[in-house]
Amino acid sequence: MKVLITGGAGYIGSTIASALEDTGHTPVILDSLITGRIEFTRGRIFYHADIADTQALETIFREHPDIVATIHCAALIIVPESVARPYDYYKENVSKSLEMFHTLDRLGCKRVVFSSSASLYDLVPGFMVREDSPLKPGSPYARTKYMMEMILADLCAASEMRGISLRYFNPIGADPQMRSGLHIQHPTLVLGLLVETALGRKPVFDITGTHWPTRDGTGIRDYVHVWDLAMAHVKAVENFDAAFARSERPDQPYLVINLGTGQGVTVREIVNAFEKVYGQEINKREMPPRPGDVAGAYANADTAQRLLGWKAELSLEQSIADALKWGELRVKLLDYTK
Ligand SMILES: NC(=O)c1ccc[n+]([C@@H]2O[C@H](COP(=O)([O-])OP(=O)(O)OC[C@H]3O[C@@H](n4cnc5c(N)ncnc54)[C@H](O)[C@@H]3O)[C@@H](O)[C@H]2O)c1
Repeated sequence: MKVLITGGAGYIGSTIASALEDTGHTPVILDSLITGRIEFTRGRIFYHADIADTQALETIFREHPDIVATIHCAALIIVPESVARPYDYYKENVSKSLEMFHTLDRLGCKRVVFSSSASLYDLVPGFMVREDSPLKPGSPYARTKYMMEMILADLCAASEMRGISLRYFNPIGADPQMRSGLHIQHPTLVLGLLVETALGRKPVFDITGTHWPTRDGTGIRDYVHVWDLAMAHVKAVENFDAAFARSERPDQPYLVINLGTGQGVTVREIVNAFEKVYGQEINKREMPPRPGDVAGAYANADTAQRLLGWKAELSLEQSIADALKWGELRVKLLDYTK
């Protein structure tokens, strides 16, 4: 199958492209490279364009009329940046996606898989969230995802288009074959920060927030290996029509599916696992929570298993080992020598 991936030069999109190739499919990449890396597109069909560039989409579908689905990963994704620059986030993520969905529909691409986020969920007692758990997107970034989900659902209800929003929990690790991985130069999320500390690029790892109502007081997350996440997209494309048929209401044109392991892991637990894999302790300290921090959530991942036949398979330790390996390699591969 041929599949269009917007944002295919990014961390997750490039891993999805590798997973599609490894399973015999052909990815077609559309990326503006606003944050993505050209290195991740090498050897692949690549269109350097914006998702709102209607002409570029027309060219892609003229040259590849056999594209069966679009996986829409392109977005701006940094939460604090979205607080500082909400206009850019609503424009880049919401307005441009609206235009792109409309163009895809016009060009006959009726299957859309959308990269959504667990940051949509409200806090719930026990921390496990199902797709129908209450939502409370807490940042402009999360609200763009919420709006994009609503837009996709409404467009699907009014046309022949069908959409699947995949709510990612906390993607970590790198392609096990090291073709791509986290490219942001100064990571802001837990595992990226642990790797930077271990490799001596950060003096100390801050455990931010130690009084949450979790089993050890630190925040809880659902860390999913990015390769598992990528394979979920392969399954979503391969089982796209079947997923609707298997759902509770086969007539509904829009589905939401959590992508997580179903296991909550606290910050202290991931630090311990990291030190075991790395083979030594890292320099760490306890700090108060940062503004906007929350206790967290983990997925009920039953829907993904039922509708897509997918479940996460790779361990936390494998994610950590792959992230560490990539953390060393990327300095050269992405020229982060400064
Ligand atoms: N990384 C995470 O922790 C996480 C968690 C939940 C959801 N997601 C979602 O997954 C998707 C991919 O995230 P990622 O971590 O790979 O981010 P990323 O920044 O690595 O990739 C995003 C890609 O989109 C491209 N892009 C952005 N705006 C574009 C536009 N207007 N036109 C064309 N290309 C554009 C960028 O150049 C980049 O290559 C995003 O939609 C993000 O919201 C990510």
